[in-house]
Amino acid sequence: MQVSTSFLSSRNIPRDLKILNETDTDFIHVDVMDGKFVKNKTMPFKEMKNIYKFTSKRLDVHLMVRKPKKYIIDYALLNTAYLTMHLELEEDIDELLDLIATYGIKCGISIKPSTDLEEIRPYLKRIDLVLVMAVEPGKPGQEFLEDTPDRIKKLKEMIQEEQAQVKISVDGGITDETRKYVTGADIVVSGTYVLSSEDFQEAIDRLR
Ligand code: DX5
Ligand code: ZN
Repeated sequence: MQVSTSFLSSRNIPRDLKILNETDTDFIHVDVMDGKFVKNKTMPFKEMKNIYKFTSKRLDVHLMVRKPKKYIIDYALLNTAYLTMHLELEEDIDELLDLIATYGIKCGISIKPSTDLEEIRPYLKRIDLVLVMAVEPGKPGQEFLEDTPDRIKKLKEMIQEEQAQVKISVDGGITDETRKYVTGADIVVSGTYVLSSEDFQEAIDRLR
């Protein structure tokens, strides 16, 4: 299992990013919120672009924004492995996927807990990652929703039916306990559990 560590709940981002850089976390999960798609707002890009000063890890960027275009253009400049936007947008998703592809970055689509999984089927052939939300997007430290394992199972079946090559990542409420229910995923995103542990590396080891 790959691990992507979110720093959304961090109270000292530079310090935590530096410690995480010494672990074997596969990615740093960057939650981006615009105060519109979700209520909360994260720091502007002019601050986030300094992230390279604290970590050399590849970034897994989760755009919780209503209009992803300008964020895609900005975040493509960083050490970004995955750029993921939400399915629940009024924007033209195909056009945004084309834009991500021009940078040679892997693209993902995230799906909220209440969205019908079938809505993602038309995109499976052209994306690299589905980010399954195990909590309502918007804030850290929430409880893992019980029907997530079922959703992962169904999504896996859909991916097979479509003969697509898509990784499944699961985001929200991941701990060493809930990790047991998401064995079908390829990547787990965890924030609060890792950052509130005394030893980040040991917490990451327990998620693998
Ligand atoms: C929630 C974010 C998650 C979250 C993960 O909207 O997308 O990435 O911060 O953190 P925990 O592990 O606290 O749920
Ligand atoms: Zn996230």
